[in-house]
Amino acid sequence: MKPPYVLELENESLELTPEMDMQEFLVHYMALHDKITLPIHVALYERIGEVARGEVIDLGSGSGKLIEYLEDVDSYLGIERVDLARLYGGFRANKAPFKAEIISGELLNLPPIRPRDTAVSSLVAYITGEVLFDVMVDAVEPGGLVVGASINPGYSISVLEEMVNPAIPGMIARGEFTEQEWQNYLACNYYIESLGMDIHTWTDREVHDILEDRGARVITTSQDVDPAVTWDGNLFYFEAVKEARK
Ligand SMILES: C[S@@+](CC[C@H](N)C(=O)[O-])C[C@H]1O[C@@H](n2cnc3c(N)ncnc32)[C@H](O)[C@@H]1O
Repeated sequence: MKPPYVLELENESLELTPEMDMQEFLVHYMALHDKITLPIHVALYERIGEVARGEVIDLGSGSGKLIEYLEDVDSYLGIERVDLARLYGGFRANKAPFKAEIISGELLNLPPIRPRDTAVSSLVAYITGEVLFDVMVDAVEPGGLVVGASINPGYSISVLEEMVNPAIPGMIARGEFTEQEWQNYLACNYYIESLGMDIHTWTDREVHDILEDRGARVITTSQDVDPAVTWDGNLFYFEAVKEARK
């Protein structure tokens, strides 16, 4: 796909330009991303759902997709900077069988928040950089669980496309989204690539060291989980426990 990258929306055509407001782009992009990449997320969310416990905080929650995979937890708090949380978060949060809410917030500038039992951050670290690990460890009580997943250095947008491609015709046939939405999603991805965004990635080994430096003992990494959780190695994944000292 070559520029111009254009989203065909219900009532307008929106050209994606480097000057456009990122919030406006992200509201469109994340809503599409949410629907279209769900099949490759399921194993990851199921895994997080199995291990998360007590009060859960989801850092960079998007629309709160995780909520429906959580079992036996006491509460859920999602924090998300994009308005998407307001668009879709309320809906998911209202259906949860436990107390759940999503609030707007910037992870790098959070108000004081009571530490929870589990902090999750799925598919976020690449935007924020290493400081996200500080935010995650700070978000739990000593003994609390920190669970994270994000892309590894082997990942690229074309890898993502290859992974979702086989599922697309069936999803369109089932009415999960339209052919136009798929085209819009591709345009978004090519647009992102054209911006040359600085994406942070780490290997499992690096994640291990980063967490240990922050007083969290790693108990599980990518190699210990089903390859479906890590998209066949395109993601790193970890579970760590915050030590009492720090
Ligand atoms: C790829 S999405 C993943 C969303 C969700 N965790 C999931 O697994 O579906 C990454 C999300 O992190 C949010 N995010 C990234 N950096 C953030 C920050 N500094 N503060 C708040 N949200 C952030 C983005 O807006 C986006 O919705």
